[in-house]
Parts: sequence; structure tokens; C-alpha cells
Amino acid sequence: MAIGPFGTVKTQPAQSGTRRPGTNRIHGWGRQDDSRMRYRAVAAGEGIRVIMETALTARDRVGVQDFVLLENYTSEAAFIENLRKRFKENLIYTYIGSILVSVNPYKELEIYSKPHMDRYHGVSFYEVSPHIYAISDNVYRSMRTEGRDQCILISGESGAGKTEASKKILQYYAMTCPASEQVQKVKDRLLQSNPVLEAFGNAKTLRNDNSSRFGKYMDIQFDFKGVPVGGHILSFLLENSRVVHQNHGERNFHIFYQMIEGGEEELLQQRGLERNPQRYYYLVKGKCPKVSSINDRNDWKVVRKALSVIGVSDEEVEELLNIIASVLHLGNVQFGMEDNGGVYITTETQMMSQLLGVEGTRLNEALTYRKIITQGEELMSPLNLEQAASARDALSKAVYGRAFAWLIDNINTSLAFRDPAYPTGRCAAAIGLLDIYGFEVFQHNSFEQFCINYCNEKLQQLVIELTLKQEQEDYTAEGVAWEPVQYFNNKSICDLLEEKFKGIISVLDEECLRPGDASDITFLEKLEVTVGDHPHFVTHKLADGKTRKAIGREEFRLLHYAGEVNYNVNGFLDKNNDLLYRNLKEMMCRSENRILTQCFERDELTDQKRPETTATQFKNSLAKLMEILMSKEPSYVRCIKPNDAKQTGRFDEVLIRHQVKYLGLMQSLRIRRAGFAYRRRYEVFLQRYKSLCPETWPNWQGQLAEGVSTLVRHLGYQPEEYKLGRSKIFIRLPKTLFATEDALEIRKQSIATVLQTSWRGYSKRSKYQKLRNAVITIQSWWRGVVDRRKARVRKQAADTIRRFIKGFILREQPQCPENEYFLAIVRHTFLTNLRKNLPRTVLDKSWPRPPLTLTEASEHLRNLCMQNMVWRYCRRIQPEWRNQMEQKVVASEIFKDKDSYARSVPRLFVSTRLNREDINPKVLQVLGDDTVLYGVAVTKYDRRGYRPRQRQLLLGSAFAIIVEEAKLKQRIDYETLIGISVSSLSDGIFVLHLPYEEKKQKGDVVLQTEHVIEAVTKLAISADKVHSVNVSQDSIKFAVGRGKEAVIDFKPGSKLVVAKAKNGHLSVMAPPLKSR
Ligand SMILES: Nc1ncnc2c1ncn2[C@@H]1O[C@H](COP(=O)(O)OP(=O)(O)OP(=O)(O)O)[C@@H](O)[C@H]1O
Ligand SMILES: [Mg+2]
Repeated sequence: MAIGPFGTVKTQPAQSGTRRPGTNRIHGWGRQDDSRMRYRAVAAGEGIRVIMETALTARDRVGVQDFVLLENYTSEAAFIENLRKRFKENLIYTYIGSILVSVNPYKELEIYSKPHMDRYHGVSFYEVSPHIYAISDNVYRSMRTEGRDQCILISGESGAGKTEASKKILQYYAMTCPASEQVQKVKDRLLQSNPVLEAFGNAKTLRNDNSSRFGKYMDIQFDFKGVPVGGHILSFLLENSRVVHQNHGERNFHIFYQMIEGGEEELLQQRGLERNPQRYYYLVKGKCPKVSSINDRNDWKVVRKALSVIGVSDEEVEELLNIIASVLHLGNVQFGMEDNGGVYITTETQMMSQLLGVEGTRLNEALTYRKIITQGEELMSPLNLEQAASARDALSKAVYGRAFAWLIDNINTSLAFRDPAYPTGRCAAAIGLLDIYGFEVFQHNSFEQFCINYCNEKLQQLVIELTLKQEQEDYTAEGVAWEPVQYFNNKSICDLLEEKFKGIISVLDEECLRPGDASDITFLEKLEVTVGDHPHFVTHKLADGKTRKAIGREEFRLLHYAGEVNYNVNGFLDKNNDLLYRNLKEMMCRSENRILTQCFERDELTDQKRPETTATQFKNSLAKLMEILMSKEPSYVRCIKPNDAKQTGRFDEVLIRHQVKYLGLMQSLRIRRAGFAYRRRYEVFLQRYKSLCPETWPNWQGQLAEGVSTLVRHLGYQPEEYKLGRSKIFIRLPKTLFATEDALEIRKQSIATVLQTSWRGYSKRSKYQKLRNAVITIQSWWRGVVDRRKARVRKQAADTIRRFIKGFILREQPQCPENEYFLAIVRHTFLTNLRKNLPRTVLDKSWPRPPLTLTEASEHLRNLCMQNMVWRYCRRIQPEWRNQMEQKVVASEIFKDKDSYARSVPRLFVSTRLNREDINPKVLQVLGDDTVLYGVAVTKYDRRGYRPRQRQLLLGSAFAIIVEEAKLKQRIDYETLIGISVSSLSDGIFVLHLPYEEKKQKGDVVLQTEHVIEAVTKLAISADKVHSVNVSQDSIKFAVGRGKEAVIDFKPGSKLVVAKAKNGHLSVMAPPLKSR
């Protein structure tokens, strides 16, 4: 087998390896096997197929999991046998098509855990074994896929497990539906409403320790995402007679016992209660206040907690408990008879009136008198003992019954769906759960059984309407040939019960309301007259001999769809009438208990209309329920009770046969086998499955019927599996549909992939386009910015170059705007260049060539720089060196114009050429303190003969002295020294010019020394005659006496020769002047 791209089922020979022997063993419906095999493959690949088949085989291990597969489907015995087999193996659930039959196991089975829920979650109905979760999930998914409200009708006898089933369904939704924090609150409230309702509305009966004594219809509301968002509860006919009376072995409602057992000491004290149920008449009528299977104390805790979860405030809880306590006190009220026939209360009523929030005297009066209004006049008529007791009981019932109704209203308020997204207050869809009493047949049947069975009759009619009749009409309307199923239409029974003016309820109401002495017997007689000829009604009087024996004189028999039931008319009128006397109502309307004031509204007193009888109220609420159910798609859970003893593992065949009959299970089975499990209008079917066939996908253009036909042919439906009507397709077995659903699931995946791919492509493309456009915009902007910037730079550059060139051309011109820039650059360049290349030492004479405009500034700078260097240099030099320098400067000044002077510069002057030892001590002695500052050996030439004489020239601070050994030959005071002459040659000759008037002086002195520059410099400095030193080129004239002059001629030569020339001059031949 393979799955085509459109989910086509292509049948190939079954592979022996994957086919299990057990699969063939499907009872009586061989072709089922093949179709199952084929459709299983639709779900997925081979791997999954094997698992599913295994599950199917395992499911059929014990009996058949679907009665539709039962070989002998018309046999009740085979039906029961199948139930029995499965029950023995703890397989309590079995299908009849989509109906779930559940048998109460009376023990906890390990089939309700979270993993079980997960196993059923989102899985096709038929892929897993029958379970309440499978139904729940199927209903939920139908609601989601078809968007239609659903309901699950749970029916069965008392104790068959209806309430348990409804709780399981609720738990399943609470666990598996998507949720948010907000929704969790709704879920909690939905779940917690159960213990509260059970405490107030359930009681131990002979048949069930936790029997629901009211009918319950609960709507779970979902939003469009399938999230539970709210709920609503409708209750039906609370059995409030139980408040005042219980049959032997039964109890009052749980809440009374829970409060007595579990209530805190203070709570009981405040309400004047004792922890002993035996003390309260209302609790011991059935003589079994304690039940081993019930833990009242624990249940009390659960209820107290649940009350706060569902939104009952602490004050409201207090008041509710006051009401419960007041009912217990009411039950203990006893009456005594007065002499005049009237009654009085013999027991304490103070606490009771306090709890009810009414005045004590008013309460006493209201319980012992009755207010009658005749001709506009109010009269107080005393009650007799019996009337007083029934007034008391009526008050108890009314108080409890209305408090219960208040509780339901309160729960509804807390569950109300409020969402701003749904302003109309209507949710997207809802699932209704109907947990209502099943058919009841007892030894003695009264008004309650009449109502309960009436309800079942109506439900049966609904089933007939929805399934049988509608179905058959559907086939006829669609022109589909099928084998009609004979079914019993109970419409005539419903009419018998509820028809206006003619029905039993009408007759009952009439009897209750008519003036005169109406009684239960007159009611029976009236019935005989009105409906006596109805085929489903019979009384003792109307019956023939054989039947008559089975019907009492005070009974009437109804032939219900499920069987015959005799009803005893005793109490019918009372139970149907509202027995609460007016003064009791008035009193309650004034109650200070806030719950009671809501329960007993004052409008009731002024309303002139008679209140509706109980039966009419019930009839109306049933009509409302039917309307609700008709608007929804129903699913059914049929609960069966295996035995009356609540025992595990006991399968009481008689009891079960009875229930199979009452529940109409055989009839349902026959219909299922004969009919078609599924039908849908062509457009709906095609719309849903069109993707499974290439011809119908994405849209079918032709006739709808043709489209559906093409589709199912493509899917490989066999002719016997479906029928095409005028506007609908009928599919015989759910499995065919489930297989198609599975194929759709797989197809959805691929469609989703295609959608995803194209969506991703589209979104990525548009994202890319967006990005691209953005990039282009940014790019063009950026390019613009960059190019503008470049153009600006280029323009600036061009301007600069232009200015530069212009400036260059006009560089010689005085500064003007045209050359200003260029000159500035040149200036700047020169100055920066100068900064880097400043001379480092005073001797460094380099200096960059300045531009024309900076010539002057450059010179200034140069000077500054030089001064700076000199200043720094000077700062660094030592005193001796300074002295040396000063002398050198002086020497330079004196000899600077001489070419040969330069060579003497590097030679340092010494402080003296003659040490003290070189000078004669006598000379030193004569000179005394006038210390010799400088001494040098000289040659003195005579003035006349120019004979050389070796002398010493000593310089003092005020005079110079020429010394010959120890003789002071000549003293020359500095102030008398006129000048000093030297030649430009390096002859070492210098002449000291002295004034001739000087008596002591014999004329100028001609001296020669090797250190002429040093000696002359020192002498010039000492004598302060720096400016009086004369450097002669050729000759020096000097005085040799008064008015007489002599001449020294200088000639250059290779070596020094000093001699007297023929002309009488002193001739000196010498090499050019050298430093000595
Ligand atoms: N699925 C189940 N598993 C285990 N025990 C169950 C199951 N269903 C029912 N029971 C047992 O049967 C008892 C009666 O069930 P439940 O109260 O649901 O009956 P009911 O049909 O609601 O009766 P009534 O009409 O009296 O309210 C439960 O208290 C429980 O002990
Ligand atoms: Mg119940």
C-alpha cells in the first residue's frame, strides 16, 4: 500500500509480514477486515500501520469493541454476552458505532491517568480502545473542526456511573484543553463545582451511596482557540422531599452530615448544633446516618475549599451554613395540641429564628397559623397537628430547595463567560454534559418517578428525533435506498404525559388548582375520564382481568417506551402543589439572611398569578432542555449498572438485560447496522476533503455531486461503503470516515508545508525586496554624500592650487589678496623648516635662506637665535675660561683684521710665562705688594744700535716693568703708555710708545717676544689701551729721544732676521704674523 501525493489510497496486495492473523477474526463482517487494513495505511507509513493493527487486534481480544461488529447483532443474548466477556476483563467500555456503553466496574481502574488522557488526545476515535476519553476527545474535535455545539447525553439507572462519567469528561477537558492562567481559574471552578453540587444535591440511596438527587446539564464554553472559558449549569427537579423524609437505609443530602461531622466546634456551637446526627429527626429518618463508604469529615474539608474556589464569599458561606443548620432545627420542631384544637410549639425556636434571620414570634405564629384571605379580609386560621407538621416540612423543603437554586446561580455567575473579545457574551462553541436520572421502576412509584420517567421519555424522544426519525427521513429525502428499521416512536406517550388540556400533567394541575375537594383519588378518576382510552394508559378500573391484578386501586399504569410502570397517586396533588403558606413566605421575605432574601423575593407576594405547579415547572424546564439539546450535535454515553449490591465483578444478567432494554441499546445497534454512520452535505464534504484528490484540489468547478463522486473514487471507497444522495453523501462506517480523516491529517501536513514554503518564500522575498530597496536608498544617499564630499575637496584643491600658482607668479609683489596665500605658505614653510634646522652651536653659521618677505624677520631671528646661543654659552662658561675668552676677544679686536690672526685663536693664553722662580727675588722684593700679574721673557732692542738684550717684561696692575736679572731697568706706568705697535708679520716685535717729555723715559721701547699676541693683549688690557694698539703693515715709527724718530721696516721673509739696515732703520724680515 502507498499513499499518493493527494492521500490516494492505492491498494496493493497485503504484505504477509505486516498482516496479523488476529485481524481476520473480526466477527461476522469479513469485508471490514479489508477496509480496515486498507484505511489503516492511510494514516501513515508502514511502521505506523503495524502499531495500529496491533492495537486493533488487542482491542478485539475480548469480545468486540464495537457492537456493530457483532456477528449476531439482533440477538440480545449475544449482546449481553459480549458485555459480560469484556466486563470480566475489566473492559468496561464498548461502542455501538459512536455510542459509548459503559458498565460500572465498582472499583478503581487504572485507566484514568494522565498518560491515558494523552493516549486519547487528538487520536481518531477508532485507533484506540473504547473509552470515555475517546468520546470526549471526539466531541471536542468535532466541535473544533465543524464549529458546531456538541452535547454528551449520559443516561442510565441510578448508580450506573453517570456522574462519574461526567466527572471524567470534565477532568479530561481540564487536563487536555489548551489553557492560560486565566483559563486555569475557569477549569478549577468547573472542576470544583462538582463537590459542592454533590454535597448539596447528592445523597446516599439504596441504589447509590452518592446518588444525584437532581438532574444536571452543564455547558462547557470554549473560545475560538478551543480553550475552555466558561460554563453554565441547569439543574432539574431537586428531590427536596428528601430534606424531610428518607426511606429506610437512605440518607438526607450529604451536606447535613458533612457539617455535623466535619464542622469546627465553634461553627457548630454558634449554630446550636451537636456533633451527633442522631439528634436531628431529619437526619435519621432512613436510620443510617453513618455510611462506611462515605467519609463526611474529609468531604466537608473538600466542600469548604471548593466553595471558596467557586467564588462563594466567607460571609455567604456563613449564611449558607445558617440555612443548613436552620433546616436541622426545623426538623426538630415539635407541636403540642391546645384544648381548642389549635397547636403550639413545644420546642425551643430561638436559635432557629436567629439562623433564619426572622423574628421568633413571627416564626412561631407562621408555623402554627395559616393566613387566609377571604373577600379582601385576612384571617388567621389555626393549624392542626398534621397541618403544622406539613407547614414545617414545607418550609424546610422550600428553604433548602431555594438555597440550592441560589447556589447553582452563584456557580453560574462565577463560571460566566466574560471576554471583551466576545461583546455579545456568546462564546465560540460549547459542549453540553447531561447527567440526568435514568428510567426508574420501583415497587412503589410516586410523583418523583413519574417526573423522572417523563424526563426519560422526553430524552428518548429526542434520541428518536435526532437519530432514528431524522435519519430515516434523511434517507428518504435524499433518495438513498436503505432497509427501514422498525422503531417505537414514543411521541404518543409524551403527548399522553404533557399534552395541553389533555395530558396527565394538565389534569394534575387542574385538580390542584380547582376549588372544591380535590384529592389524589379525584385526580385518578379524572385521568380515567380524560386519557382512559389512551393505549399507553391503564388503571385498575380500566384494565382487563389479567392486568387488573397487577394494578392497585390507587394506581395508574403507564406503558413507557422502556416498560410498564405503576404509579401510586397518593401525594401527587400535594407534591405538585406549592404548599408553602403565604404567611411563611411573607416571613421568609423579611429574613435578614441575605441568601434567603434573594431566594424569597417580595414580588412573589404581590404576584397575583398562581405559582406554577411542580410538574409544570418541570415540564417547562424539560422543554427548555430539549431545545438546547436539539440545537447541538449529540453523542451518547449509556451507563449500565452490573448489580444492585454495588459489588465488584458481579454481572447480574437479569438486571443488565433490563437496562439494555430501557436504554434502547438493541434498537440503537439495529439502526447503526442498517444506517450510515456519517452524512454530510456535498459542499461540506467536498470543502473538507477536496485536498485529497488532484481533480478536486484546489477547487472543483463542476457539479457538487460529481465532485464528491470523483473524490470518493479517488479515495478508493468501495460501493457498499457509501451512498450518494441528492445533496448529501452517506458513509456507512465510521472507520471509512476516520481513514479519510487520517489521510486529510497527512495531507494537511503537506499542504501546510507548501503553504509554509510559499509563505516563507513570499515573506523572505518581500523582506529581501524591502532590504534591497533600503540598501539602494542608503547606497545612493551615501554615494551622494561621498561624491559631494570628494567634489568639495577637489574644488578646494583646485582653488588652493590656483591660489598657489597665482601667488607664485606674484610672489615678488607686495602682499595682496592674490599672493597672500602663497606667501603665507612660504612663510609657514620657511618657519617650520627653520624650526627644524636652527643652528645648534655658536660656531654654526648655517641659516636657511629666507623668502623675500621674511628677510628682515629672518635676520632678527638669526640675531635672536645667536644671542640666545651666546647667552646660553656664556652662562655655561667657567671664570678662568671667561677670563681667557675676554682676553681672546680683546686679542680678536686688536688683531681681527689680520689674515694670519685666525691661526692664533685656538692657542690658549696662559696666565704667565714666567713663574716666581723665573723672576729674580730682588725684583719681587722691590715690587713688593704689587704682584706680577704676567711675566714674559722679551728681547729688547737698543734704540741706537738695535742690539738685542734679554730682559723680562713683568706686568703689574698699574705698570709694566722691564727687568734685567735683579735690575729694574725700566718702569712704564700704564697711564703714560701712549700706544703699542706691532707688525703684521710674525716677528714678535712690539713697540711701546711712551711720551718723550717724560724725563725718566729715554724713548719708545722696542721689544720682541715669542708670545707677542698674548703679551700685547694682556698689556693692552692691563693698561686699558686696547684701542691704542696699532698693527702696522710695513713699518713702525717710534721715538728714540726728544724729537727723534726711528723706523722699523718689516719685510716678509722665510726666517726671522733682525738687523740694523744701512739707512739706520731697524730691518725685520720675518714670516707673516703667527701666534706666539
Ligand atoms: N468508571 C467508574 N470507575 C469506578 N467506579 C465507578 C465508575 N463509575 C461509577 N463508579 C462507582 O459507582 C458509584 C455510582 O456512580 P455514579 O454516582 O456516577 O452513579 P449515577 O449514575 O450518577 O447515579 P445517580 O443517578 O444515582 O446519580 C460511584 O460512586 C462509584 O463508586
Ligand atoms: Mg449521579
